[in-house]
Amino acid sequence: MQPEMTDTRASAPVPRTAVPKTVLMCRPDHFAVTYRINPWMNPDLPTSTDLAVQQWETLHQAYLAQGFDVQLIDPIAGLNDMVYAANGGFTLDGHAYGAKFTYEERVPEGPAYMRWFGEHGFEVHEPEHVNEGEGDFLLSNGAILAGHGFRTSLESHDELRRIFDREVVSLRLVDPSFYHLDTAIAILDDANIAYLPGAFDDASRAELERRYPDAVIVDDQDASVLGLNSFGDGATMLIAQRAAGFERSLAERGYATVGLDLSELLRGGGGIKCCTLELRR
Ligand code: ARG
Repeated sequence: MQPEMTDTRASAPVPRTAVPKTVLMCRPDHFAVTYRINPWMNPDLPTSTDLAVQQWETLHQAYLAQGFDVQLIDPIAGLNDMVYAANGGFTLDGHAYGAKFTYEERVPEGPAYMRWFGEHGFEVHEPEHVNEGEGDFLLSNGAILAGHGFRTSLESHDELRRIFDREVVSLRLVDPSFYHLDTAIAILDDANIAYLPGAFDDASRAELERRYPDAVIVDDQDASVLGLNSFGDGATMLIAQRAAGFERSLAERGYATVGLDLSELLRGGGGIKCCTLELRR
């Protein structure tokens, strides 16, 4: 018997390749929870802007340590949620599709982000239809996965298709706690995703199963700390520190992880990915 000849390929993690990212972030200088537009928010409980800034800074520094190019947009007083930059638009191939927010409280963020895109070399497309940017639009394998059901309208998916000339896959969200697509799906790299099956209607779940038979399936416990609201460069994922099961699944697949605590920003209903808008020129 030669036990040393055992084939271990099946269990050996795949080597992963890092592709450094360029991202846009917004310091939470005006963060507060004073209204409720998602189930995570409770305006009756006090929030700490200082703590939010401190925790956000750990994310900012972690991106810099990964070699990311981090761009910053100036926060605007009165726009509590502007820190969730993912909602500011969707960029690809030098084009920026602006956001048109569902709730009045966030509407002024749309033009602010569009102005930034225009000043930084993007061709800006003013949105006709309600959409909350990369919160609901995720690039995967050359296609755009597009959420709807709570914030982003189905009509905006056609607008997206027209602007970017890419395949757009509409996915219906059904759980109010996972109201943006980036709370229910994490992009791991070009080909791989992780998701929470219960966040989708039957047809969308079937579509995800068909497209991603090897996806990482995340459970309610990890999803309930917004574990899926994570971001990485294809080799290292920055994830919520409390999402222990998700962290193990990623490690088994050969991804390195950096765990972060954004508990104060979670009280606004957002995590790592919500604070991050990818810039693709
Ligand atoms: N309070 C914000 C809202 O309800 C949180 C946004 C979270 N962003 C995200 N991309 N999931 O709009």
